[in-house]
Amino acid sequence: MTSLREGNTPVVKREDYAAPAFLVDSVDLCFDLDPAKTRVLNKMRLRRNPAVAAQPLRLDGEDLNLARVLVNGEGSSFKLEGKQLVLEKLPEGEEPFELEIFTTCAPAKNSKLMGLYVSQGTFFTQCEAEGFRRITYFLDRPDVMASYQVTLRADKAAYPVLLSNGNLVEQGDLDDGRHYARWVDPHKKPCYLFALVAGQLVAREQRIRSRSGGEHLLQVYVRPGDLDKTEHAMNSLMASIAWDEARFGLPLDLERFMIVATSDFNMGAMENKGLNIFNTKYVLANPATATDADYAGIESVVGHEYFHNWTGNRVTCRDWFQLSLKEGLTVFRDQEFSMDMAGSVSARAVKRIEDVRVLRSAQFPEDAGPMAHPVRPDQYAEINNFYTVTIYEKGSEVVRMQQTLVGREGFARGMKLYFERHDGQAVTCDDFAQAIADANPDSELARLLPQFKRWYSQAGTPRLHASGYFDAEARRYTLTLGQSCPATPGQPSKKAFVIPVALGLLDAQGREIEGSARTVVLSETSQTVVFEGIDAAPVPSILRGFSAPVILEHDSSDAELLTLLAHDSDPFNRWEAGQRLALRRALAAVQSADAVHQPLDAAYLDAMRAILRAPELDAAFKELVLTLPGEGYIAEQLDEVDPQRIHAVREAMREQLAHALQEDWIQAFEAHQDNGAFRPDPVSSGRRALAGLALNMLCLAARENGNPVWPGKALQRFKDAGNMTDRVNALSALVGSGSALAQPALERFHALFKGEELVLDKWFALQAGAPDRGGNILPLVKQLMQHPDFHLRNPNRARSLIFSYCNANPGAFHRVDAAGYRFWSERVLEIDAFNPQVAARLARALDRWKKLAEPYRSAAREAIARVAAKADLSNDVREVVTRALA
Ligand code: PHE
Ligand code: ZN
Repeated sequence: MTSLREGNTPVVKREDYAAPAFLVDSVDLCFDLDPAKTRVLNKMRLRRNPAVAAQPLRLDGEDLNLARVLVNGEGSSFKLEGKQLVLEKLPEGEEPFELEIFTTCAPAKNSKLMGLYVSQGTFFTQCEAEGFRRITYFLDRPDVMASYQVTLRADKAAYPVLLSNGNLVEQGDLDDGRHYARWVDPHKKPCYLFALVAGQLVAREQRIRSRSGGEHLLQVYVRPGDLDKTEHAMNSLMASIAWDEARFGLPLDLERFMIVATSDFNMGAMENKGLNIFNTKYVLANPATATDADYAGIESVVGHEYFHNWTGNRVTCRDWFQLSLKEGLTVFRDQEFSMDMAGSVSARAVKRIEDVRVLRSAQFPEDAGPMAHPVRPDQYAEINNFYTVTIYEKGSEVVRMQQTLVGREGFARGMKLYFERHDGQAVTCDDFAQAIADANPDSELARLLPQFKRWYSQAGTPRLHASGYFDAEARRYTLTLGQSCPATPGQPSKKAFVIPVALGLLDAQGREIEGSARTVVLSETSQTVVFEGIDAAPVPSILRGFSAPVILEHDSSDAELLTLLAHDSDPFNRWEAGQRLALRRALAAVQSADAVHQPLDAAYLDAMRAILRAPELDAAFKELVLTLPGEGYIAEQLDEVDPQRIHAVREAMREQLAHALQEDWIQAFEAHQDNGAFRPDPVSSGRRALAGLALNMLCLAARENGNPVWPGKALQRFKDAGNMTDRVNALSALVGSGSALAQPALERFHALFKGEELVLDKWFALQAGAPDRGGNILPLVKQLMQHPDFHLRNPNRARSLIFSYCNANPGAFHRVDAAGYRFWSERVLEIDAFNPQVAARLARALDRWKKLAEPYRSAAREAIARVAAKADLSNDVREVVTRALA
């Protein structure tokens, strides 16, 4: 499907999709596992696709040594064309034939972590998106679904556990200390869902009986020694199974469901059928090593991968342009799952706010930058570059809007129809939306479906313009809603979207005006909403619950925002009002010509104090309200970005909050101490979060007045914390305030957790992400690269140090001397030589360079050009830098 070129990389286009010329009925794989040289025998039954004109069979392969090809048991002629194996002389007609391919590969040398690789002596696979071709020659595309049987053979002492998809049907010993296992997957699947694992592992096991009466064996495999960290993952898995049955009527369709953890993984986790492979980060947790955020991450990722079993595996994608069909939908499902698990209205809102924060701080910039692409992209050079926040998080919002337009029950009906129609098929985003609409023929979604689907085809974040007019005489309030969407690469003009806008009106005292709440469906460029019988100018609460992934432009007064912050019945908009108040002040300070000085006024500080003191509000919610918008989010609001100025302003705001609210921070810290056993539930994690923020603020305040009391308390808490959340919060309070006690605490932390990989990641990340004071962070990062515990080839470790610095610490990364950018370009090139996928993610750190003020802008362009100048870049990095420079 290679047609055009971008730079010098081939581009794949969605419009070029053609059905496969051959179908694979069954695959019988036999592996002789050896780290240096693994032998793979692949016996397939294939047939010509009767719907497609006769043509040669072209199989994908990469980094394979081909030994032999047999067709129906006989030697056959073949050609190697580029990376493809081409067979021209195959049996005519529609009868199935047998194709045997014998290859070898070198898993120990596989540093890309795609295909078959070795991590700490254990074999793992990663096949999505196009890794299966690194295991054997195959029609490596998701619309080719086949039945798999797999035989694994390996040394028994070194690899006692042999796993693959489906059910274990046979196992036994062989000669020479080897043994074997045979697995049969009862479900057809695309090859990207194939998996095997072989090594020294132990499992936590759980037998369950599901609602429908089926019995299942659940297993969580980890390295010996990690078993005490698997309870939360297992609980999350059981909860996911119960939830999918209860909410969507989707049962577990396997007798056995396995999760295996590995320390070397490019992404979070992978939904291979019946054999999910996870980054250890999303499996391992105990109170001493994992934070509340880690616990929440595990719950959502375990849920996410489990939910893929239906949304992704039973119904998969026709081609990779449809990636959001499974990812957007499955993120939506995991978000709903986490919300349902959270329970209370307030805890649900906290989860929603956290999800929106990710969307706005990561996806909005992506949608405004050189890598902007529709939820269903039209082209790519490297599919690995399209596992993006747009496909995932915006994709989820697009599914959420469908639920909003048809209602919760209507959406469940739509899901049911989707599976009735498409179970066992490889389909498109259109098929999904069609099913939801068809199950709800009287809905707004059905009425507006072709227009609604622009969310799949048009990139860019729409602006929602709102303005209100109150006519006292007529007792009428008129709200005018309008929309527009900026150009994105390749899409100069946009058509109107369908935007569900949840809203309501408050009276001047902040009481909800009865009957005013509604969801307006904006489908024109401009529409008015009229409210009759309104006695006084109301305060509109617009885009409640963040009902659409848009930027709301409404110039509400400070007074209105303060009313919303204090009273809105919608917790999301309460939080949002606080963010807007802070943002307004941040932008004013950034844009003023004066030196940065006390950006916050009494009205804002009083409002924050009131929130902190409000007895009816949950701690988790308070922590979110009291956290200022991030530097990246502030930067997005500006046409020209001076990262140092933004950093200085935000730091000044933090210090002001710290000082002005000191008494309340002390109160908050002291009122949120829990001494009982650690539980990661929303209430206690919220209490820890607020206590942690309070401690941070108190140390920050102490920094100026030199008072040693709070740093001393933080150190004490760091030492005797009963869980990792409190410990890391105390440590970051010391590090974040530049306390002299930070260094000894860091040393102690390292000594305490020497053998704990995931905790060491935190240790590196905390230092690389610390506020820069006089340019000290880059030299520290360089020095930490020399630390014996630093391993660039381990993705988690590389992320913890390099990404924490380049992608998450703008105040330290954007240096006037350009040294941060030089460091970045060196690391991109260094990593690209062994792991292009990870390198390409790092390469995105300078996506927004065109917005930078001088001298940053020129220096950033130069750094990107330096990367682009390298002749033998991977497709992955080439695509990112080519787009950035375009
Ligand atoms: N499909 C995985 C998920 O979202 C992500 C993934 C993609 C993992 C590619 C590995 C490689 O659940
Ligand atoms: Zn996924």
